[in-house]
Order: sequence, then structure tokens, then C-alpha cells
Amino acid sequence: MTTTIAERTRRIAGRAVRITKTDRDAMLPEQPPHREEVRRQLAADAARLHVTDLVREHGSPLFVLDVDRVTTQLLALRRELPDVEIHFATTSLPHPAVIRAVDAFGATFEVESRGEIDLLEREGVAIGRCVHSNPVKSVADITGAYLRGIRTFVVDRHSEIDKFRWLPGVAVLLRLSFPDPAADRDTSEFGVPPEEADALIAHCLRAGLRIAGFTFHVGSQTVSAEPWMRAIHRTLVLMRRLEHEHGIRFDTLDIGGGFPIAYDERVPAFAELARGIRSALAAAPSRYRILVEPGRFVSAPAITLVTRVVGTTERPDGDWAYLDDGVSDAYSNLPSEQAHPLVFAAAELDAQPVREPERARVERRLRARRHRPVTLAGPACDHVDVIARAMPLPTLHEGDLLLSPMMGAYTVVPASGVTGVGPAVVVAA
Ligand SMILES: Cc1ncc(COP(=O)(O)O)c(C=O)c1O
Repeated sequence: MTTTIAERTRRIAGRAVRITKTDRDAMLPEQPPHREEVRRQLAADAARLHVTDLVREHGSPLFVLDVDRVTTQLLALRRELPDVEIHFATTSLPHPAVIRAVDAFGATFEVESRGEIDLLEREGVAIGRCVHSNPVKSVADITGAYLRGIRTFVVDRHSEIDKFRWLPGVAVLLRLSFPDPAADRDTSEFGVPPEEADALIAHCLRAGLRIAGFTFHVGSQTVSAEPWMRAIHRTLVLMRRLEHEHGIRFDTLDIGGGFPIAYDERVPAFAELARGIRSALAAAPSRYRILVEPGRFVSAPAITLVTRVVGTTERPDGDWAYLDDGVSDAYSNLPSEQAHPLVFAAAELDAQPVREPERARVERRLRARRHRPVTLAGPACDHVDVIARAMPLPTLHEGDLLLSPMMGAYTVVPASGVTGVGPAVVVAA
């Protein structure tokens, strides 16, 4: 799309300002539509959350946690999958404010470690409703979880089943694996193929262990309903056969997490995925409880990361800007998950307080619209600490603030602090 002459001409303090050809060329590459959509949403969020005031008060780097987004994501899940029980995947964002929001919503939790159970207990969560999904646990972990009230555990191997022999009242979910070569973040290293379920069922029955049903995870950030539909169909067929052959009745089907969010590219609307999932679940007996374990979908939108430019340079391959945090801490989801978060300058969000003359404000806005590809690097002073290459950004200067949305999933915990103390988390009011 090209701009018209009229659009290229602005009146500043009564004087027409002609935008030069150089300006125009820099403005011509339109923002990719997805980036522009995210920019608008982020601009609104940054203004609502008073992000620049928060940075002034708390410094940078800063994770700004917007707990309302947790609730809106849970509402979307509830609206689109009305008959499922939501077990928030605590690992994705184990923050007390998030735990309280999930609990207040009436959802419960999927846990994988002792530390997560400690956190839930401190926040007064009814632990008995949680599912323990880690298929490999020490006897001490199992006993600790059991004594604190957990009764539903996931197993995927014979040796694990034996660890439950002496615990009355436990029910297990057998984890199945459905490898998806197309998945970005495959999780099929856990679970057994459906063909191996018979042996595990027989082992549970011999051990006197109640089998509630089955669970699987189709892969994190799955962008089509197909993998769920296939997995649900195959699991329901298996459950029907096993019920018939062993004279048992299951009561639970847990379809895991994996619901996607948009980082640097669009993902299908959740309503679209949910339509496919609902149609596959329609074949489940009505007595089955259906569980979901969303992590990323709930937690990613809840955190915006704010960093600051500490230096800039021109190199043979273009402009570089160095930030006060990088892939070892705030952006640890790059190496750990191959996530590609978008980065915006506060100036292009108009998030800086605008107590400036009209002319300066318009000029700043025009400057902010001119994007140049820039490489963003962290403070680690090595070739690994590169956050993004060719990120379209306005010309950056030392001290400028940068914002990345969708930074709530699997970031706060892996942040190692090796380059400093790691970003603080502030809960926006
Ligand atoms: C067992 C289990 N359930 C749920 C989740 C959450 O997955 P996601 O964040 O993709 O929704 C995970 C994460 O890997 C998991 O391992």
C-alpha cells in the first residue's frame, strides 16, 4: 500500500511539513498486518496499565503482569469449551497473583513439582482438585503430594505404577503419546502409544490401582484442531474397547494443553480450534469428565516485558541495539522454546507521556513510523545473546524503552539471572 501526497504532508504549528523522499521510502514498507494488529492492542494495554509509570517506579527490565488477561483467557476457554474442567498448567507461570486469579475463576490446577504444590498451598488452593501430571516422580514426591491431598496422578510406565501400591484412594490417568512430526513443540516423549496401553492397564489392575482414564498432550502451540481430533478419536476407541474387555468403567478423559497464542505470526482463532475439539468430544460418553490443561494460552498474554536500550551501533550488517536483558533471562523463551516474540519501541506505541509541544509530538510520531531493520542483542556480550534480527523498529537511541507482549509463558521460571538479577515482576493494578 502506498501513501498519498496528502498523507505525506503534515501541518505542524500552521506550517506544512513536507516529508522527504528518504522519509517516504523508509515509511513505505508497510507494517506486516499481524505486527500492526499487535501494535494497536499493545498500545492500548500499555496506556491502560501505565507501563511507563511502572518502569519509572520499578526500573527495567520489567515483567508487567496483567492478571485480568488470565481471567479473559479463562473466559474464552469456558465459552468455547463449556463442558470441560480447566486445570491451569502451573509450570507455565507459577506466580501467586496468577494462582489467585485462576482459583477465583473457579478453575483448578495441573501440577508437576513439589514447588508448585507449595505455592498452591500457600495461596489456599483446594489441592485435592489438582491433577499431578508428571509421569516420573520419586516416592518422596508422590507421598508428599498425596499427604497434601492430591489423588489423581499420571503414569506412563510399569515402574511408576508400582510406586502407588500402598496409597489408598488414588486414581491414575494413563498418558498416551501421539507424536506429531509437524508440531513445533512436540511433547510425545512422555506417554505410551495406544497399542501399549493394554499392558499398563493390566499392570494397574494387578496392583489394585483405580484407572480414572487417559490423558495426552498433542504438543505445545498446536495451531490446528486436527491433532486433538485424531487423539480424542483414537483414545475414545481405545477406552471403549478396554472397558469392554476388562469389564471396567473409566470416568475421565484429559486432553491436555497446547492451545496456541500469536507471537510473531497469526494463529487460528481459538473458537475455530474449539469447534473441532467439541465435535470430536461429542463422541465421549456423557459420564466422562473432560479435562483440559492450558498453560501458554492462559499465561502468555498476561505478561508484557519492558526492556531499555543501553547502547546502539552500526555494523556492516546494519543497525544493532543492545538491551538491558537478553536470552539468558527475560527472553529465555527464545532458546528454551524457539519462541519469537515481537518487539516494539515505546515511541511507536505512543506510550511515552505526551506533555510536549504539538510540533515535537508530531515529529516524534512521524519518526516512530519510520521503521528500519535492527538487530536486538542482550547484555551477555556474546554471539548467542541475540533476541531478534531484522526487527522493524524506529531508529533507537540509548534509554529508549522496548516492549514485548505475550511474554508470560515459560519465561519467569527459566530466567536464570546469569546476566544480572533477571527482570522483576510487577503486578499491574
Ligand atoms: C502435562 C502437561 N499439561 C499441560 C501443559 C501445558 O501446555 P501448554 O502450555 O502448551 O498449554 C504441559 C506443558 O508442557 C504439560 O507438560
